Amino acid sequence: MRILAIGGTGNVGGNVVSELLKRGAAVRVLARKEPEASKAQAGVDVAIGDLLDPVSVEKAMDGVDKLFLLNAVVTDELTQALIAYGIAKRVGLKHITYLSVFKVDQFRDVPHFASKLAVEGALHEFGMPYTILRPAYYIQNDLGLRDALTKAGVYPMPLGTAGIAAADVRDIAEVAAISLTEEGHEGQTYDIVAPTPISGPGNAALWSKLLGKEIKYTGHDFDQWERGMRARMPSWSAYDLRMMFQGYFERGFASTETEVVRLTKLLGRTPHSYEDFATETAEAWKS
Ligand SMILES: NC(=O)c1ccc[n+]([C@@H]2O[C@H](COP(=O)([O-])OP(=O)(O)OC[C@H]3O[C@@H](n4cnc5c(N)ncnc54)[C@H](OP(=O)(O)O)[C@@H]3O)[C@@H](O)[C@H]2O)c1
Repeated sequence: MRILAIGGTGNVGGNVVSELLKRGAAVRVLARKEPEASKAQAGVDVAIGDLLDPVSVEKAMDGVDKLFLLNAVVTDELTQALIAYGIAKRVGLKHITYLSVFKVDQFRDVPHFASKLAVEGALHEFGMPYTILRPAYYIQNDLGLRDALTKAGVYPMPLGTAGIAAADVRDIAEVAAISLTEEGHEGQTYDIVAPTPISGPGNAALWSKLLGKEIKYTGHDFDQWERGMRARMPSWSAYDLRMMFQGYFERGFASTETEVVRLTKLLGRTPHSYEDFATETAEAWKS
């Protein structure tokens, strides 16, 4: 069986490719340019193409049975996703596993959630066999906080105090591979959540303990946070993320025990926790 992984050169997709290879699938990735040697995985076929070029997408699907679809957060995310979906359907692929987001239907004012909700709508409407993955806030986002934590001594993500659901990318990848290589996942929507929630003050306290220094949570002033992010990313993207964090703060983004139990059953083990990740990461940074 050959699977095309769109987004297969990225953070989650790279892990999905590894999990598919472990299960003996033949894998092709779609990439806009030849992946760097450090990111290339042995035995993986690379189709050079772009989601905004439907001809290249159709070519990448030649000889493919199933599709993993992950879209980058870009202003034309919905167009990119529907091009991939529409061509997959037209050429008769047998299954699509689509990466959406946890509680997608409760954050319709967040542009990248709204795109994913529209894609989920198409999956429900147009009849191609699908599995939807709805991961929570990626635990591995915080790999990017090394300088903030170890130098500035701050935990800068405005996660609020109530506790939000997180998800480890390794768990996401494993569920994706299970859905694409085993029977019985058609029409399913899987929430992917860690066993315990995370919060701004909670993460600051955890990193303080692990790094042996005081880490302060910088709080959740969303105007200030968005202004700061404009220096690091396009302003539309800073706006989109601000709306997401403010939505988490105002409406909640917590998981339930039922969701954790269902994922544990699917994985056949406990999902990874933020604490495990932070412990491993702090050790790696120290060495
Ligand atoms: N971060 C979170 O907490 C979180 C939580 C839940 C859901 N999500 C969702 O996860 C997704 C991001 O996942 P990630 O972190 O794995 O992303 P990533 O590492 O940024 O990877 C993006 C992938 O998209 C591909 N890509 C981008 N533009 C493309 C185009 N025009 N045509 C073809 N391929 C294109 C890239 O391929 P090349 O660059 O190699 O061409 C790369 O493989 C988003 O949809 C986001 O909403 C994120």
